[in-house]
Amino acid sequence: MTGLLRASVPVAGARILGVGAYRPTRVVGNAEVAPAIDSSDEWIRRRSGIAARRFAGPDETLVSMASAAAVKALAHAGVAPDAVDTVLLATMSHLEQSPPAAPRVAHLIGATGAGAVDLGAACAGFCHALALADGLVRSGHSRHVVVVGAERMSDLIDPADRGTAFLFGDGAGAVVVGPAEAPGIGPVVWGADGSRPGAIAHAHGWRALRSADPPPWPTLRMEGQTVFRWAVETVPRVGREALAAAGVSAGELSAFVPHQANLRIVDAAATALRLPPSVAVARDVVDTGNTSAASVPLAMERLLSEGAAGPGGLALLVGFGAGLSFAAQVVTLP
Ligand code: UT7
Repeated sequence: MTGLLRASVPVAGARILGVGAYRPTRVVGNAEVAPAIDSSDEWIRRRSGIAARRFAGPDETLVSMASAAAVKALAHAGVAPDAVDTVLLATMSHLEQSPPAAPRVAHLIGATGAGAVDLGAACAGFCHALALADGLVRSGHSRHVVVVGAERMSDLIDPADRGTAFLFGDGAGAVVVGPAEAPGIGPVVWGADGSRPGAIAHAHGWRALRSADPPPWPTLRMEGQTVFRWAVETVPRVGREALAAAGVSAGELSAFVPHQANLRIVDAAATALRLPPSVAVARDVVDTGNTSAASVPLAMERLLSEGAAGPGGLALLVGFGAGLSFAAQVVTLP
């Protein structure tokens, strides 16, 4: 008989088996970024909650940071690199259209048999990639998937731009997703509003690099208030939808790990979700800044390593950002 294909054999569930983080060495306090934007430590803390961020040094490349986080996640998971079938790298700050960064990450971590793909959904990228990894593992296509969020946002920032210079930072976080007897990654609630592409966008596109003299560096610009208002409405709404989709109540959560955009957004969402005091709320933004696609795995790793949440607990993850795009799911912590 022709036309019949053999399909992968599905497994009962997928879960996060391990998590790892890489934080650049250099800590940059508000006093260092404030003068170029005529700001102050007091203003930055009051409007964003941020006290410091990390900026990567010359040797801390996007690929090296992503690889370091992935190696730690594999060690935590107890999974050998050659058992990895797929590497998904979420990033918005890889400065080459080609080649993608994920194949280099796969090579560096020793996942030489893996497919490796970059994925762009800006600050929501990690939660999108995690949902895809869940599907790959549950469908039986991949046994182990490394999911990385890595950013060098300092490459994209205009140090003189008041709306972004103090907000963003660098780093990488990673998880390993593998098979499980029961689902450990809930259904994803995701969406995008492409009617507002300019809310977070590069000041110049590739064409300006060719035609303008001198060519401008395509730094990032953000309509801060537009994004802020969208975020404080969107995060609790999609968070509630993700909880309902997973069949979990807010009171059953151990942790709430939203994208670390701004402490005011984190706290507003935690209040709107009516989280009981028993739920640990990730506030990594305070001394890490906004690390875009890296922020959710970085914050998750910190809650676990500091003991604020424990293995086996349930965490609500919500990514959101440029697009405008969002993705949320409930996961069992590794
Ligand atoms: O990661 C992707 C998703 N990103 C986000 O979710 C970020 C969302 N947006 C934000 O977090 C906030 O909009 C910011 C933290 C970026 C800015 O805070 P804000 O409270 O929205 O400030 P604003 O832009 O409304 O500015 C308020 C005031 C203005 O002065 P007036 O008009 O009230 O006199 C600004 O001129 O603060 C002034 N201002 C500053 N002052 C000192 C704006 N930027 C600065 C600055 N330092 N850097």
